Amino acid sequence: MPIKKLPDNSGATLTVVDLDGYYLPTFYELEDHEEQIRSLPKWKARDDDVILCTYPKSGTHWLWEIVSMLVQNKAKRIQTVKQTAMLEVIAEESYDNLPSPRVLNSHVYFEYLPQDFAKRKCKIVYAMRNPKDVAVSFYNHHSKIIEYDFSGKWEDYVSRFVKGDVDYGTWFEYTLKWEKFMADNQDYPIIVTTYEDMKEDSLREVTRIAKFLEVDCDQAFLQEVTDLCHFDKMKKEKNALEEQVAGWKDGKPGMYRKGDVGDWKNWFTVAQSEYFDSVYMEKMKGSKVQPRYTLR
Ligand code: A3P
Repeated sequence: MPIKKLPDNSGATLTVVDLDGYYLPTFYELEDHEEQIRSLPKWKARDDDVILCTYPKSGTHWLWEIVSMLVQNKAKRIQTVKQTAMLEVIAEESYDNLPSPRVLNSHVYFEYLPQDFAKRKCKIVYAMRNPKDVAVSFYNHHSKIIEYDFSGKWEDYVSRFVKGDVDYGTWFEYTLKWEKFMADNQDYPIIVTTYEDMKEDSLREVTRIAKFLEVDCDQAFLQEVTDLCHFDKMKKEKNALEEQVAGWKDGKPGMYRKGDVGDWKNWFTVAQSEYFDSVYMEKMKGSKVQPRYTLR
């Protein structure tokens, strides 16, 4: 697949793969990545598959760990990383070999995913995060992972993010597509959570997700899962595994960075924030999505 270097206003570039104008990260590229991605909609699903769908940097690792523990009914650290079940980066053979129940995850639009999910009505856990914190988290992600070959400045990043010159396109389009999917498929088994709701009351959200997944468990188990998936614990216990899946510039994996709501306030200038708000108003006109930019 063609590699593209997307420039910002100052000329700094971010390296992605260009799939007919839809951008994907380069660093997981399988030998026949293009073939794999194009065949993905035809892959077979299983009735008990659970799919975690998120725009990047929305807390996918956190939720994958939680959902994996819930479906396995074991409050025990998952000894692998979510990328082993990330649909756009694994080969069909690896996908077929994953043991059931599978907790799959992806950042691609629903139309690129196995369409068998829809036929079988496989459960979807969909999570959102406020786009200003997503932008900050994505900037750090892009800056730290070697394969993006990116050393752009934050002052140019907000317009890059808004334009969608990043892997997986814009947050706006991703979010609007899911809003439409849910409006058009009201009987589809999908649960929506947000990073902010998770931070506000993790146990409440873990309990809600467990109920949605019909996990037979007690309160003590839900508390244990919640505690095991706390940011500090995951950072300590999963970082070493993260080193195996991406090259980090300083040799230190940055997947577990800050883990807060509202860090955007330390990054966005007033002008950037106002610019972002005006773009948001325009792009999300008519949408019922209401991001929470702070917990207070
Ligand atoms: P920050 O960069 O703001 O710290 P994803 O998994 O979708 O790539 O999202 C990564 C973001 O989720 C990062 O945000 C990361 O620190 C945060 N995160 C990862 N695990 C978390 C946890 N257990 N609790 C809270 N935040 C977590």
